[in-house]
Amino acid sequence: MKILAFAASSSRSSINKALVRHAAERLRAELLPRAELELLDLNDLEVPTYSIDRERADGIPAAATRFFEMIGSADALIISFAEHNGAYTAAYKSLYDWASRIDAKVFQGKPLLALSTSPGGRGGKSVLEVATKAAPRFGAELIASLSVPRFHNNFDKERGALREGEHARELTRVLKQFAARLDPRQRTTKLPAPGAPMWNERYSERFASYGTEPNDFVRAVASRIPAGPVLVIAAGEGRDAVYLAERGHEVTAMDLSRVGLENAAKLATKRGVALTTVVADLADYELGDARWAGIVAIWAHVPPALRRAVFAASVTALRPGGVLILESYAPAQLTTAGKGGPPVAELLLDAETARRELAGLEIELCQETRRTISEGRYHLGLSATTQVLGVRPA
Ligand SMILES: Cc1cc2nc3c(=O)[nH]c(=O)nc-3n(C[C@H](O)[C@H](O)[C@H](O)COP(=O)(O)O)c2cc1C
Repeated sequence: MKILAFAASSSRSSINKALVRHAAERLRAELLPRAELELLDLNDLEVPTYSIDRERADGIPAAATRFFEMIGSADALIISFAEHNGAYTAAYKSLYDWASRIDAKVFQGKPLLALSTSPGGRGGKSVLEVATKAAPRFGAELIASLSVPRFHNNFDKERGALREGEHARELTRVLKQFAARLDPRQRTTKLPAPGAPMWNERYSERFASYGTEPNDFVRAVASRIPAGPVLVIAAGEGRDAVYLAERGHEVTAMDLSRVGLENAAKLATKRGVALTTVVADLADYELGDARWAGIVAIWAHVPPALRRAVFAASVTALRPGGVLILESYAPAQLTTAGKGGPPVAELLLDAETARRELAGLEIELCQETRRTISEGRYHLGLSATTQVLGVRPA
Protein backbone atom coordinates (compact mmCIF):
# COMPACT_ATOMS: atom_id res chain seq x y z
CA MET A 1 0.00 0.00 0.00
CA LYS A 2 1.40 3.35 -1.04
CA ILE A 3 0.71 6.54 0.92
CA LEU A 4 1.46 9.85 -0.72
CA ALA A 5 2.17 12.58 1.83
CA PHE A 6 2.92 16.21 1.18
CA ALA A 7 2.60 19.73 2.51
CA ALA A 8 0.53 22.13 0.44
CA SER A 9 3.36 24.65 0.71
CA SER A 10 6.46 25.53 -1.27
CA SER A 11 8.44 26.76 1.72
CA ARG A 12 11.85 25.07 1.97
CA SER A 13 11.45 25.09 5.75
CA SER A 14 7.74 24.27 5.72
CA ILE A 15 6.26 23.50 9.12
CA ASN A 16 3.45 21.63 7.39
CA LYS A 17 6.05 19.43 5.75
CA ALA A 18 7.51 18.64 9.17
CA LEU A 19 4.03 17.80 10.45
CA VAL A 20 3.01 15.65 7.50
CA ARG A 21 6.30 13.72 7.63
CA HIS A 22 5.79 13.08 11.34
CA ALA A 23 2.20 11.93 10.77
CA ALA A 24 3.14 9.63 7.89
CA GLU A 25 6.07 8.11 9.78
CA ARG A 26 3.97 7.50 12.87
CA LEU A 27 1.29 5.88 10.73
CA ARG A 28 3.81 3.46 9.32
CA ALA A 29 5.70 2.84 12.55
CA GLU A 30 2.65 2.28 14.74
CA LEU A 31 -0.22 1.20 12.55
CA LEU A 32 0.64 0.20 8.99
CA PRO A 33 4.12 -1.36 8.99
CA ARG A 34 3.83 -2.54 5.40
CA ALA A 35 2.88 0.85 4.00
CA GLU A 36 5.22 2.50 1.53
CA LEU A 37 5.56 6.24 2.10
CA GLU A 38 6.16 8.72 -0.64
CA LEU A 39 6.97 12.21 0.64
CA LEU A 40 6.45 14.76 -2.07
CA ASP A 41 8.01 18.24 -2.04
CA LEU A 42 5.90 20.69 -4.04
CA ASN A 43 9.12 22.45 -5.11
CA ASP A 44 9.79 19.44 -7.30
CA LEU A 45 6.54 20.13 -9.12
CA GLU A 46 6.76 23.84 -9.73
CA VAL A 47 4.23 25.20 -12.22
CA PRO A 48 3.41 28.67 -13.50
CA THR A 49 0.33 30.36 -12.03
CA TYR A 50 -2.67 28.78 -13.67
CA SER A 51 -4.16 30.76 -16.54
CA ILE A 52 -6.59 29.72 -19.23
CA ASP A 53 -4.49 31.58 -21.81
CA ARG A 54 -1.36 29.70 -20.83
CA GLU A 55 -3.29 26.47 -20.99
CA ARG A 56 -4.52 27.28 -24.52
CA ALA A 57 -1.06 28.27 -25.63
CA ASP A 58 1.09 25.58 -23.98
CA GLY A 59 -1.24 22.90 -22.58
CA ILE A 60 -0.98 21.45 -19.10
CA PRO A 61 2.53 21.57 -17.56
CA ALA A 62 4.24 18.20 -17.17
CA ALA A 63 4.57 18.78 -13.40
CA ALA A 64 0.78 18.99 -13.03
CA THR A 65 0.32 15.78 -14.99
CA ARG A 66 2.94 14.17 -12.78
CA PHE A 67 1.09 15.40 -9.66
CA PHE A 68 -2.18 13.93 -10.98
CA GLU A 69 -0.46 10.62 -11.74
CA MET A 70 1.19 10.47 -8.32
CA ILE A 71 -2.22 10.80 -6.69
CA GLY A 72 -3.59 8.18 -9.06
CA SER A 73 -0.90 5.66 -8.18
CA ALA A 74 -1.23 6.16 -4.40
CA ASP A 75 -3.65 4.22 -2.23
CA ALA A 76 -4.18 7.08 0.20
CA LEU A 77 -3.18 10.69 0.77
CA ILE A 78 -2.00 12.72 3.74
CA ILE A 79 -1.88 16.45 3.05
CA SER A 80 -0.95 19.20 5.49
CA PHE A 81 -2.27 22.56 4.33
CA ALA A 82 -0.31 25.75 4.94
CA GLU A 83 -2.50 28.82 5.31
CA HIS A 84 -1.84 32.01 3.40
CA ASN A 85 -4.37 34.76 4.03
CA GLY A 86 -7.04 32.34 5.08
CA ALA A 87 -6.68 30.08 2.05
CA TYR A 88 -4.35 27.75 0.11
CA THR A 89 -0.79 28.81 -0.72
CA ALA A 90 -0.42 30.02 -4.30
CA ALA A 91 1.99 27.17 -5.08
CA TYR A 92 -0.54 24.50 -4.14
CA LYS A 93 -3.49 26.31 -5.68
CA SER A 94 -1.82 26.62 -9.04
CA LEU A 95 -0.66 23.02 -9.09
CA TYR A 96 -4.13 21.93 -8.07
CA ASP A 97 -5.84 24.14 -10.67
CA TRP A 98 -3.65 22.75 -13.44
CA ALA A 99 -4.31 19.17 -12.31
CA SER A 100 -8.06 19.85 -12.22
CA ARG A 101 -7.90 20.50 -15.97
CA ILE A 102 -7.04 16.82 -16.43
CA ASP A 103 -10.02 15.78 -14.33
CA ALA A 104 -11.94 17.87 -11.78
CA LYS A 105 -11.87 14.87 -9.43
CA VAL A 106 -8.18 15.47 -8.75
CA PHE A 107 -8.17 13.19 -5.68
CA GLN A 108 -9.48 10.27 -7.74
CA GLY A 109 -11.46 8.65 -4.94
CA LYS A 110 -8.49 8.29 -2.58
CA PRO A 111 -8.92 8.27 1.21
CA LEU A 112 -7.56 11.52 2.64
CA LEU A 113 -6.20 12.55 6.01
CA ALA A 114 -6.14 16.36 6.03
CA LEU A 115 -3.89 18.26 8.43
CA SER A 116 -2.87 21.87 8.92
CA THR A 117 -0.60 23.84 11.18
CA SER A 118 0.56 27.41 11.62
CA PRO A 119 2.64 29.33 14.14
CA GLY A 120 -0.54 31.00 15.45
CA GLY A 121 -3.37 29.86 17.68
CA ARG A 122 -5.76 28.90 14.89
CA GLY A 123 -3.45 26.29 13.41
CA GLY A 124 -4.47 26.94 9.84
CA LYS A 125 -8.10 26.17 10.66
CA SER A 126 -9.43 28.39 7.90
CA VAL A 127 -7.57 26.66 5.10
CA LEU A 128 -8.34 23.27 6.62
CA GLU A 129 -12.01 24.13 6.59
CA VAL A 130 -11.81 25.16 2.94
CA ALA A 131 -9.90 21.99 2.08
CA THR A 132 -12.12 19.55 3.98
CA LYS A 133 -15.33 21.11 2.69
CA ALA A 134 -14.11 20.90 -0.88
CA ALA A 135 -12.42 17.50 -0.67
CA PRO A 136 -15.42 15.23 -1.33
CA ARG A 137 -16.49 17.35 -4.32
CA PHE A 138 -13.07 16.88 -5.84
CA GLY A 139 -13.05 13.15 -5.41
CA ALA A 140 -11.43 12.64 -1.99
CA GLU A 141 -12.83 10.29 0.61
CA LEU A 142 -12.16 12.47 3.62
CA ILE A 143 -11.43 10.17 6.57
CA ALA A 144 -10.31 12.62 9.24
CA SER A 145 -8.75 16.03 9.76
CA LEU A 146 -6.67 17.74 12.42
CA SER A 147 -5.32 21.22 12.90
CA VAL A 148 -2.33 21.79 15.17
CA PRO A 149 -2.02 25.33 16.56
CA ARG A 150 1.19 27.05 17.72
CA PHE A 151 3.46 24.72 15.81
CA HIS A 152 6.68 26.04 17.29
CA ASN A 153 5.48 25.39 20.85
CA ASN A 154 3.87 22.05 20.16
CA PHE A 155 6.43 20.43 17.89
CA ASP A 156 9.87 19.28 18.99
CA LYS A 157 12.05 20.05 15.96
CA GLU A 158 14.98 17.98 17.19
CA ARG A 159 12.89 14.83 17.41
CA GLY A 160 10.72 15.80 14.45
CA ALA A 161 7.67 14.95 16.53
CA LEU A 162 4.76 16.55 18.32
CA ARG A 163 5.44 17.05 22.00
CA GLU A 164 3.43 14.77 24.26
CA GLY A 165 0.02 16.12 25.15
CA GLU A 166 -3.31 16.97 23.64
CA HIS A 167 -2.16 17.39 20.04
CA ALA A 168 -0.11 14.20 19.99
CA ARG A 169 -3.14 12.34 21.35
CA GLU A 170 -5.39 13.89 18.72
CA LEU A 171 -2.95 12.82 16.04
CA THR A 172 -3.05 9.28 17.41
CA ARG A 173 -6.83 9.35 17.16
CA VAL A 174 -6.96 10.51 13.52
CA LEU A 175 -4.15 8.15 12.50
CA LYS A 176 -6.11 5.25 13.96
CA GLN A 177 -9.20 6.30 12.03
CA PHE A 178 -7.16 6.55 8.87
CA ALA A 179 -5.44 3.20 9.40
CA ALA A 180 -8.77 1.55 10.10
CA ARG A 181 -10.02 2.70 6.73
CA LEU A 182 -6.90 1.51 4.94
CA ASP A 183 -6.37 -1.80 6.66
CA PRO A 184 -9.58 -3.72 7.26
CA ARG A 185 -7.90 -5.90 9.88
CA GLN A 186 -7.55 -2.85 12.11
CA ARG A 187 -11.25 -2.20 12.06
CA THR A 188 -13.53 -3.42 14.78
CA THR A 189 -15.76 -4.40 11.90
CA LYS A 190 -15.93 -4.21 8.15
CA LEU A 191 -18.02 -1.38 6.86
CA PRO A 192 -20.41 -2.15 4.05
CA ALA A 193 -22.41 0.84 5.32
CA PRO A 194 -21.99 4.02 3.28
CA GLY A 195 -19.51 6.55 4.65
CA ALA A 196 -19.56 10.25 5.40
CA PRO A 197 -19.14 11.43 1.77
CA MET A 198 -22.33 9.65 0.70
CA TRP A 199 -24.28 11.06 3.64
CA ASN A 200 -22.88 14.54 3.13
CA GLU A 201 -24.01 14.39 -0.47
CA ARG A 202 -27.46 13.16 0.47
CA TYR A 203 -27.89 15.84 3.13
CA SER A 204 -26.79 18.50 0.65
CA GLU A 205 -30.00 17.93 -1.29
CA ARG A 206 -32.49 20.74 -1.32
CA PHE A 207 -35.12 19.11 0.91
CA ALA A 208 -34.59 17.20 4.15
CA SER A 209 -33.96 13.63 2.97
CA TYR A 210 -36.12 12.05 5.70
CA GLY A 211 -38.31 15.05 6.40
CA THR A 212 -38.32 17.35 9.40
CA GLU A 213 -40.96 15.55 11.47
CA PRO A 214 -39.91 12.94 14.02
CA ASN A 215 -40.03 9.22 13.36
CA ASP A 216 -43.48 7.76 14.28
CA PHE A 217 -42.07 5.37 16.88
CA VAL A 218 -40.10 8.14 18.58
CA ARG A 219 -43.25 10.25 18.71
CA ALA A 220 -45.23 7.33 20.15
CA VAL A 221 -42.85 6.50 23.00
CA ALA A 222 -40.93 9.73 23.68
CA SER A 223 -42.94 10.32 26.84
CA ARG A 224 -41.24 7.24 28.35
CA ILE A 225 -37.90 9.06 28.53
CA PRO A 226 -37.38 10.48 32.02
CA ALA A 227 -36.28 14.11 32.42
CA GLY A 228 -32.63 14.59 31.56
CA PRO A 229 -30.15 14.62 28.71
CA VAL A 230 -30.78 12.58 25.60
CA LEU A 231 -28.33 11.27 23.02
CA VAL A 232 -29.55 10.74 19.46
CA ILE A 233 -27.09 8.59 17.52
CA ALA A 234 -27.03 8.67 13.72
CA ALA A 235 -29.11 11.83 14.09
CA GLY A 236 -28.90 12.82 10.41
CA GLU A 237 -30.63 16.12 9.81
CA GLY A 238 -31.92 16.23 13.37
CA ARG A 239 -35.67 15.68 13.09
CA ASP A 240 -35.83 13.39 16.15
CA ALA A 241 -33.24 15.38 18.10
CA VAL A 242 -35.13 18.64 17.58
CA TYR A 243 -38.43 17.00 18.50
CA LEU A 244 -36.94 15.71 21.77
CA ALA A 245 -35.42 19.13 22.49
CA GLU A 246 -38.90 20.60 21.99
CA ARG A 247 -40.10 18.17 24.66
CA GLY A 248 -37.66 19.78 27.08
CA HIS A 249 -34.66 17.47 26.90
CA GLU A 250 -31.12 18.68 26.60
CA VAL A 251 -30.22 16.85 23.40
CA THR A 252 -26.92 15.81 21.84
CA ALA A 253 -27.17 14.81 18.19
CA MET A 254 -24.26 12.77 16.83
CA ASP A 255 -23.76 11.69 13.26
CA LEU A 256 -21.06 10.85 10.75
CA SER A 257 -22.24 13.63 8.47
CA ARG A 258 -21.14 17.21 9.03
CA VAL A 259 -23.69 18.43 6.51
CA GLY A 260 -26.50 16.52 8.24
CA LEU A 261 -25.69 18.11 11.57
CA GLU A 262 -25.37 21.57 10.05
CA ASN A 263 -28.94 21.09 8.81
CA ALA A 264 -29.93 19.80 12.26
CA ALA A 265 -28.54 22.95 13.87
CA LYS A 266 -30.50 25.09 11.41
CA LEU A 267 -33.69 23.15 12.14
CA ALA A 268 -33.13 23.64 15.88
CA THR A 269 -32.67 27.39 15.41
CA LYS A 270 -35.79 27.57 13.27
CA ARG A 271 -37.79 25.77 15.96
CA GLY A 272 -36.24 27.86 18.74
CA VAL A 273 -34.52 25.05 20.66
CA ALA A 274 -30.91 24.37 21.66
CA LEU A 275 -29.06 21.37 20.27
CA THR A 276 -25.53 20.06 20.75
CA THR A 277 -24.13 18.44 17.62
CA VAL A 278 -21.15 16.10 17.43
CA VAL A 279 -19.69 14.91 14.13
CA ALA A 280 -18.24 11.48 14.88
CA ASP A 281 -17.96 7.92 13.70
CA LEU A 282 -19.96 5.60 15.96
CA ALA A 283 -16.92 3.32 16.06
CA ASP A 284 -14.97 6.02 17.92
CA TYR A 285 -17.68 7.81 19.84
CA GLU A 286 -17.61 7.43 23.63
CA LEU A 287 -21.16 7.10 24.88
CA GLY A 288 -20.13 7.69 28.48
CA ASP A 289 -21.18 6.13 31.76
CA ALA A 290 -24.64 6.57 33.35
CA ARG A 291 -24.90 9.79 31.42
CA TRP A 292 -28.14 9.75 29.45
CA ALA A 293 -31.81 9.71 30.40
CA GLY A 294 -32.47 8.51 26.87
CA ILE A 295 -30.58 7.09 23.92
CA VAL A 296 -32.36 7.16 20.59
CA ALA A 297 -31.17 5.15 17.59
CA ILE A 298 -33.42 5.41 14.57
CA TRP A 299 -32.28 3.73 11.35
CA ALA A 300 -28.72 3.50 12.68
CA HIS A 301 -27.83 0.55 10.46
CA VAL A 302 -24.28 -0.55 11.20
CA PRO A 303 -22.41 -3.84 10.78
CA PRO A 304 -23.07 -6.47 13.47
CA ALA A 305 -19.77 -6.17 15.38
CA LEU A 306 -20.15 -2.42 15.70
CA ARG A 307 -23.84 -2.77 16.52
CA ARG A 308 -23.06 -5.17 19.38
CA ALA A 309 -20.38 -2.77 20.70
CA VAL A 310 -22.79 0.18 20.54
CA PHE A 311 -25.59 -1.79 22.21
CA ALA A 312 -23.29 -2.85 25.04
CA ALA A 313 -22.01 0.70 25.46
CA SER A 314 -25.60 2.04 25.41
CA VAL A 315 -26.60 -0.12 28.36
CA THR A 316 -23.90 1.39 30.57
CA ALA A 317 -24.27 4.86 29.07
CA LEU A 318 -27.88 5.07 30.21
CA ARG A 319 -28.67 6.28 33.70
CA PRO A 320 -30.55 3.74 35.82
CA GLY A 321 -34.15 4.17 34.64
CA GLY A 322 -32.93 5.64 31.34
CA VAL A 323 -34.61 4.51 28.14
CA LEU A 324 -33.33 3.20 24.83
CA ILE A 325 -35.58 3.84 21.83
CA LEU A 326 -34.62 2.04 18.65
CA GLU A 327 -36.13 1.43 15.28
CA SER A 328 -34.29 -0.41 12.54
CA TYR A 329 -35.33 -1.90 9.25
CA ALA A 330 -35.86 -5.64 9.66
CA PRO A 331 -34.51 -8.33 7.30
CA ALA A 332 -38.04 -8.72 5.89
CA GLN A 333 -37.66 -5.22 4.44
CA LEU A 334 -35.64 -6.81 1.63
CA THR A 335 -38.87 -8.31 0.29
CA THR A 336 -41.43 -5.56 1.01
CA ALA A 337 -42.59 -2.99 -1.50
CA GLY A 338 -41.51 -0.14 0.79
CA LYS A 339 -38.56 2.08 0.06
CA GLY A 340 -35.92 2.51 2.74
CA GLY A 341 -33.04 0.89 4.56
CA PRO A 342 -29.78 -0.60 3.34
CA PRO A 343 -30.18 -3.41 0.79
CA VAL A 344 -27.77 -5.55 2.83
CA ALA A 345 -29.13 -8.28 5.15
CA GLU A 346 -26.14 -7.92 7.49
CA LEU A 347 -27.13 -4.35 8.36
CA LEU A 348 -30.75 -5.16 9.17
CA LEU A 349 -31.97 -6.17 12.63
CA ASP A 350 -34.57 -8.73 13.65
CA ALA A 351 -36.37 -8.66 17.00
CA GLU A 352 -34.78 -11.82 18.36
CA THR A 353 -31.26 -10.52 17.75
CA ALA A 354 -32.16 -7.14 19.25
CA ARG A 355 -33.52 -8.80 22.39
CA ARG A 356 -30.44 -10.99 22.75
CA GLU A 357 -27.93 -8.20 22.15
CA LEU A 358 -29.71 -5.81 24.52
CA ALA A 359 -29.84 -8.34 27.34
CA GLY A 360 -28.62 -5.75 29.87
CA LEU A 361 -31.88 -3.80 29.54
CA GLU A 362 -35.39 -4.55 30.75
CA ILE A 363 -37.09 -4.92 27.41
CA GLU A 364 -40.58 -3.42 27.52
CA LEU A 365 -41.18 -3.77 23.83
CA CYS A 366 -39.29 -5.56 21.11
CA GLN A 367 -41.29 -6.33 18.01
CA GLU A 368 -41.13 -6.68 14.29
CA THR A 369 -43.79 -4.62 12.56
CA ARG A 370 -45.14 -3.97 9.13
CA ARG A 371 -46.05 -0.34 8.91
CA THR A 372 -46.50 2.37 6.32
CA ILE A 373 -43.76 4.93 6.50
CA SER A 374 -43.63 8.41 5.01
CA GLU A 375 -40.35 10.14 5.83
CA GLY A 376 -39.04 12.49 3.17
CA ARG A 377 -38.01 11.03 -0.18
CA TYR A 378 -36.17 7.96 1.03
CA HIS A 379 -38.46 6.15 3.45
CA LEU A 380 -41.81 5.41 1.87
CA GLY A 381 -44.51 2.79 1.83
CA LEU A 382 -45.25 -0.50 3.56
CA SER A 383 -42.07 -1.49 5.38
CA ALA A 384 -40.75 -4.10 7.81
CA THR A 385 -39.11 -2.71 10.93
CA THR A 386 -37.94 -3.76 14.37
CA GLN A 387 -38.90 -1.52 17.27
CA VAL A 388 -37.34 -1.64 20.73
CA LEU A 389 -38.08 0.14 23.98
CA GLY A 390 -35.68 -0.88 26.76
CA VAL A 391 -34.99 0.49 30.21
CA ARG A 392 -31.77 0.31 32.21
CA PRO A 393 -32.64 -1.37 35.48
CA ALA A 394 -32.53 0.96 38.48
C1 LIG B 1 1.58 35.55 2.54
C2 LIG B 1 1.34 34.86 3.85
C3 LIG B 1 0.06 34.84 4.37
C4 LIG B 1 -0.18 34.18 5.59
N1 LIG B 1 -1.45 34.13 6.05
C5 LIG B 1 -1.72 33.41 7.16
C6 LIG B 1 -3.06 33.23 7.60
O1 LIG B 1 -4.01 33.73 7.00
N2 LIG B 1 -3.27 32.49 8.71
C7 LIG B 1 -2.24 31.90 9.38
O2 LIG B 1 -2.50 31.21 10.37
N3 LIG B 1 -0.96 32.07 9.00
C8 LIG B 1 -0.69 32.79 7.91
N4 LIG B 1 0.61 32.94 7.48
C9 LIG B 1 1.66 32.32 8.29
C10 LIG B 1 1.84 30.86 7.87
O3 LIG B 1 0.95 30.07 8.59
C11 LIG B 1 3.27 30.46 8.18
O4 LIG B 1 4.11 31.15 7.27
C12 LIG B 1 3.49 28.97 8.08
O5 LIG B 1 4.85 28.71 8.34
C13 LIG B 1 3.10 28.44 6.71
O6 LIG B 1 3.26 27.06 6.68
P1 LIG B 1 4.51 26.38 5.95
O7 LIG B 1 5.72 26.67 6.79
O8 LIG B 1 4.16 24.93 5.95
O9 LIG B 1 4.58 26.98 4.58
C14 LIG B 1 0.88 33.60 6.30
C15 LIG B 1 2.18 33.63 5.77
C16 LIG B 1 2.41 34.25 4.56
C17 LIG B 1 3.80 34.27 4.00
